[in-house]
Amino acid sequence: MNNEISERKKESYKIFNEIASTYDFLNHTLSFGIDIYWRNKLLKHLPQKESINALDLATGTGDVALTLVKDARVKKVTGLDLSKGMIDVGIEKVKQRKLDKKIFLMLGDGVTIPAADTSFDLTTISFGIRNFSDPQKSLFDIYRVLKNDGRLMVMEFAIPTNPLVRAIYFFYFRYLLPKIGNLVSKHKDAYTYLNKSVEDFPYGDEFLALMKNAGFKNLKKQSLTFGIAMLYIGDKN
Ligand SMILES: C[S@@+](CC[C@H](N)C(=O)[O-])C[C@H]1O[C@@H](n2cnc3c(N)ncnc32)[C@H](O)[C@@H]1O
Repeated sequence: MNNEISERKKESYKIFNEIASTYDFLNHTLSFGIDIYWRNKLLKHLPQKESINALDLATGTGDVALTLVKDARVKKVTGLDLSKGMIDVGIEKVKQRKLDKKIFLMLGDGVTIPAADTSFDLTTISFGIRNFSDPQKSLFDIYRVLKNDGRLMVMEFAIPTNPLVRAIYFFYFRYLLPKIGNLVSKHKDAYTYLNKSVEDFPYGDEFLALMKNAGFKNLKKQSLTFGIAMLYIGDKN
């Protein structure tokens, strides 16, 4: 792993504190709204249970939590994030939608999860695990906090395999997105870091190998929008 990126990951939550107020706007604008469609995909793969107690790691401004509760079987979502700035924006959104009896956002680390063993039916992480200081350790800890019939779903950027899509993707991610993102967020290099962290992170079968190593079974990956992002799914048993 690139040393500069790995050092910044340890404190990436500070970057998110600084860009929290523009995060949602930039997310939806820079992805042309596709990020909303991607998060909705999670609903198709919920565990087959009548009542789901979910944990959303790196919850940020709460968009995954707000998506999960669209399915009535999801009774409760606990969202953890290390960035107070992001959580505060999320708590406000949850209150506005009167979902504060179902969604609980709080400070918490996704690598050393502050929860008891076998607590959750589902754990989700969207566009978060690549920022974790130790993704493998996080996967072991997620395995610990899931119930025996629990499921993990991870959504993360990947690199498209089609050469033409790949060329357009690199042009957009390396040149356009960092320029627009840094300008609008008024941060000197937050979006340059975000792009580098994507290219530095294992994706596809390499990421599934980390999940397998942590003990997950029935591993699946689903390519989203030409492979720009991937949804990884694994069960505890
Ligand atoms: C790109 S945002 C994703 C937010 C949200 N999941 C979404 O889909 O919009 C990444 C988030 O990861 C959080 N983060 C980074 N390291 C973390 C860690 N070790 N534990 C929990 N959250 C972390 C950051 O603070 C940031 O809010």
